[in-house]
Amino acid sequence: MRDGVRARRARGRTPGRRGGGGGGGGPPESPAPAETELTAAPAAVPLAAPAALPDAGLTAWQALFEHAAAGPGDRVLVAGAGGGVGRFAVQLARHAGAHVIATASGRSAAAVRRLGAHEIVDYTRTPPAEAVGEPVDLALHLVPSAEAGAALAALVRPGGSLVSATGPVPVADPSVRAVHFVARNDTAQLAALVGLVDAGAVRVEAAARPLRELADVHRAGEAGEIAGKVVLTPVG
Ligand SMILES: NC(=O)c1ccc[n+]([C@@H]2O[C@H](COP(=O)([O-])OP(=O)(O)OC[C@H]3O[C@@H](n4cnc5c(N)ncnc54)[C@H](OP(=O)(O)O)[C@@H]3O)[C@@H](O)[C@H]2O)c1
Repeated sequence: MRDGVRARRARGRTPGRRGGGGGGGGPPESPAPAETELTAAPAAVPLAAPAALPDAGLTAWQALFEHAAAGPGDRVLVAGAGGGVGRFAVQLARHAGAHVIATASGRSAAAVRRLGAHEIVDYTRTPPAEAVGEPVDLALHLVPSAEAGAALAALVRPGGSLVSATGPVPVADPSVRAVHFVARNDTAQLAALVGLVDAGAVRVEAAARPLRELADVHRAGEAGEIAGKVVLTPVG
């Protein structure tokens, strides 16, 4: 197998790594994965970047296409679009032909627009409940705030879906399908994502930083200076 991205088991974050199943090189507590758990990494981008795919990419994919059925013409609201998951969700929804409305603050707005959002709501200035005029078919809740999730419920049309990766969201309208899920590994979905990356349809927006800068990365994250994914590499 070519350079591989190790598929993630359950919710664990997994760095990209060279080599396929059966090889050595992994830490002793992390047995080599079976070949069926591996997906070849995209050839079109530097090897570190696709380490963001198994977690953030699969979460976005499953939110849109497994727990909902986002498709052409749907109005899809991505709350938390500036984050690691949200950046994939925006691109995948756009690629599926949806009309994408994204919440993003000033630090993320340009990136989210570049990735394909049709409309941007700066949640720090206007609550999405006020800014989103028409109801949406699907709302993705990717924000670590229960309050923000609760506010989304009123924006979903009757019969629509509210899919949350961060916690259960109460929904008053029984016709609205509310789902809270935890992403799982799926090598077929991961391979589809890899195909989109290789085709140039999905960009991996991840900053690669050497592992020795881990403390700095944490400090920057706590200071709100990091938007999107950071991939830590063992060298450099
Ligand atoms: N269920 C699962 O399997 C699963 C998998 C992966 C992640 N998650 C969870 O999903 C969430 C998103 O993950 P992530 O990696 O994308 O996180 P992230 O990179 O930290 O992104 C979260 C984004 O939320 C936005 N945000 C913060 N407060 C907000 C508010 N009050 N209203 C609207 N937007 C707000 C920020 O956007 P701006 O940059 O625009 O300010 C931030 O970029 C996290 O809670 C994570 O734990 C769940």
